[in-house]
Amino acid sequence: MKIGTPLEVEAGENRVAMTPDSARQLQKLGYDCVIEAGAGAKAGFSDADYTAAGVEVVTGADALWSASDIIAKVRIPQEAELGRLTADKTLITFFNPGGNEAGLEQAKATGGSVIAMEMVPRISRAQKMDALSSMANIAGYRAVIEAGNNFGRFFTGQITAAGKVPPAKVLVVGAGVAGLAAIGTSTSLGAITYAFDVRPEVAEQVESMGAEFVYLDFEEEQQDGAATGGYAAVSSPEFREAQLAKFRELAPEVDIVITTALIPNRPAPKLWTADMIAAMKPGSVIVDLAAEKGGNAEGTVMDEKVVTENGVTIIGYTDFPSRMAAQASTLYSTNIRHMMTDLTPEKDGQINHNMEDDVIRGATVAHAGAITFPPPPPKVAAIAAKPKEVVPELTPEEKRAAETAAFKAQTKNQVTLLAVGGALLLAVGLVAPASFMQHFIVFVLSVFIGFQVIWGVAHSLHTPLMAVTNAISSIIILGALMQIGSGSWLVIILASLSIFMAGINIFGGFLVTRRMLAMFQKS
Ligand code: NAI
Repeated sequence: MKIGTPLEVEAGENRVAMTPDSARQLQKLGYDCVIEAGAGAKAGFSDADYTAAGVEVVTGADALWSASDIIAKVRIPQEAELGRLTADKTLITFFNPGGNEAGLEQAKATGGSVIAMEMVPRISRAQKMDALSSMANIAGYRAVIEAGNNFGRFFTGQITAAGKVPPAKVLVVGAGVAGLAAIGTSTSLGAITYAFDVRPEVAEQVESMGAEFVYLDFEEEQQDGAATGGYAAVSSPEFREAQLAKFRELAPEVDIVITTALIPNRPAPKLWTADMIAAMKPGSVIVDLAAEKGGNAEGTVMDEKVVTENGVTIIGYTDFPSRMAAQASTLYSTNIRHMMTDLTPEKDGQINHNMEDDVIRGATVAHAGAITFPPPPPKVAAIAAKPKEVVPELTPEEKRAAETAAFKAQTKNQVTLLAVGGALLLAVGLVAPASFMQHFIVFVLSVFIGFQVIWGVAHSLHTPLMAVTNAISSIIILGALMQIGSGSWLVIILASLSIFMAGINIFGGFLVTRRMLAMFQKS
């Protein structure tokens, strides 16, 4: 079969759904590749690059569509494009099935199959095909770069001969894919970064990236993340009020606000209100990534940059991935290639549209003359917060009784272990010489104490514990060095082995501890 990629017809779209690299991978799946002349030019891929990768270059959309069995493109197809779909063809593209009823009807009438890339479920197995995440990642990165471009100062603080420069303060609202990418970029540029999200489970992730999570003094009943497909649930009016009050407090302080808050298939919540914008310093910048769904900030104009009366720049561009076309095309074409790998289990260049597969079923919006959107919920739960364990309520008497029973059981175990250990020692003592017993008892006691010490320490702290055991390893090395000169070859071998193993413990311990400490160091 042939996979073809046309030139994007949407004005201002620079991305392309096939790169020379992805074409090479598709050929390994048994497909022939074809591309419309000039399709990759705006993303930096020339026709000659494609030809060198074994891709056939054809002129004109008609030639491309009629030559291809599978068409991979980026933007939602226009009516004329869908008109070229036939029953034996499969179209893989962004489709916006939730808001594109006419497109769905047109696709159904053709009998062809349409795979909508934004419908790839957010489950672990499908991450490599998740084009929404790849694009959001780019948008988050680019939002910070765009903000920097419109901000008249440094991100990082500096002390120079000409004076002290304070670091910029950046607030990221919504720590999803785009938000986390923005946080990463902002912290790496040296800004003091704050982040807020309605899902408190992301706080750890935010903090691990060097940003500060903005907590609210408000307890909201948590919803099961799996029930909402791994996305946030709509928050209560009281929560929203608490959130807005916190933002009002932050507004005069922050220099750059990047908003990415969205719940799929809903208009973007208005979170950065006019009074907050009015409270910001002149020269501040807001990048509203949710502009396409109405924007999180009041006053955002879709696809435009506006400057308010008090000198705050609000950027509402919706084409950030296209502004980084080379990167976006590379990631998107890789997502498509992974989708093709799932569609071609035999690697024989033949598509197997398996509607039993969660990912393929989830993304297919039209198939065999029927509209297959919306899909049933995936059988595998989305990546979501762990549901809370249900612990039965106990009365104080029941609690005390349970604690006493647990203590008794533990004591019984320990007494039994001690009795068995003592009996074994006695048995060894009956046959072994006294000098051996002296060392043996010290050895058994050290094993016992070492075991007790390590058992009581959380797993995550075992590595720093290794550094402490370096002291013990040093004693082992000293002992072994004293024995290595002995005449017996057995003692020499044992002493050398001890030095070798204790050495691994010491040097390995230092290396691993250094890496662990670096994780907690502020740069
Ligand atoms: P996501 O679903 O991964 O993240 C959205 C985050 O917002 C979630 O973590 C959610 O918990 C949070 N959120 C929802 N309601 C909130 C509230 N009231 N307050 C605080 N946080 C809230 O979405 P993703 O993929 O990160 O995309 C974010 C936005 O970026 C979307 O609006 C998307 O359309 C947009 N986008 C924009 C592009 C552009 O060029 N402008 C390109 C790609 C994505």
